[in-house]
Amino acid sequence: MVRVLDLAGGTGDIAALIADRVGHEGEVVLGDINTEMLSVGRDRLTDRGLVSNLRYVRLNAEALPFPDGHFDAVTIAFGLRNVTDKAAALREMRRVLKPGGKVMVLEFSEVAEPLLRPLYDLHSFEVLPRLGKLFANDADSYQYLAESIRKHPNQDTLKQMMQDAGLDRCEYRNLSAGIVAIHSGYRA
Ligand SMILES: C[S@@+](CC[C@H](N)C(=O)[O-])C[C@H]1O[C@@H](n2cnc3c(N)ncnc32)[C@H](O)[C@@H]1O
Repeated sequence: MVRVLDLAGGTGDIAALIADRVGHEGEVVLGDINTEMLSVGRDRLTDRGLVSNLRYVRLNAEALPFPDGHFDAVTIAFGLRNVTDKAAALREMRRVLKPGGKVMVLEFSEVAEPLLRPLYDLHSFEVLPRLGKLFANDADSYQYLAESIRKHPNQDTLKQMMQDAGLDRCEYRNLSAGIVAIHSGYRA
């Protein structure tokens, strides 16, 4: 039986993709610190007919309520940026993995091409907040998003943090020139 933990799973988009992959024999645990996000996720996935192999757990990624070696894989998409103690969360992800299990982190990262950075900054700090104000009457959330992305460890720093957490064979792949990166690592 394949068991996957989707951390900071929020409204469940990633968990839905994984649930299809693990099949009815497997289990996907959607974990999030926010009860309301969990219940939105549960409603959305239930409406899509995804029920039997999903479980919802309120948790803090920094201190996971699972035994050692419990999961085949742990994912966290657009969530690590919001976790205060990222090093603790990475150690916990490794701890709950079975030997040979894999961690995957999908997160906004640093634009790899220096010439594109001013353009990306202009878009993030000038265009997006204005669009947010125009369409959702909310410039602050977009301003926070841009600032939190700049504070998040870049690709190489996050890779080092994963290694420091005891993960093995750590690597990353840039998507859209590094606007987003996927990091992965294994428990030896
Ligand atoms: C931007 S949402 C990402 C949701 C989803 N993974 C996605 O890709 O759409 C970030 C989520 O991280 C959750 N979160 C923030 N800090 C957390 C923590 N310490 N432990 C678990 N979840 C956390 C928030 O409640 C929120 O649902």
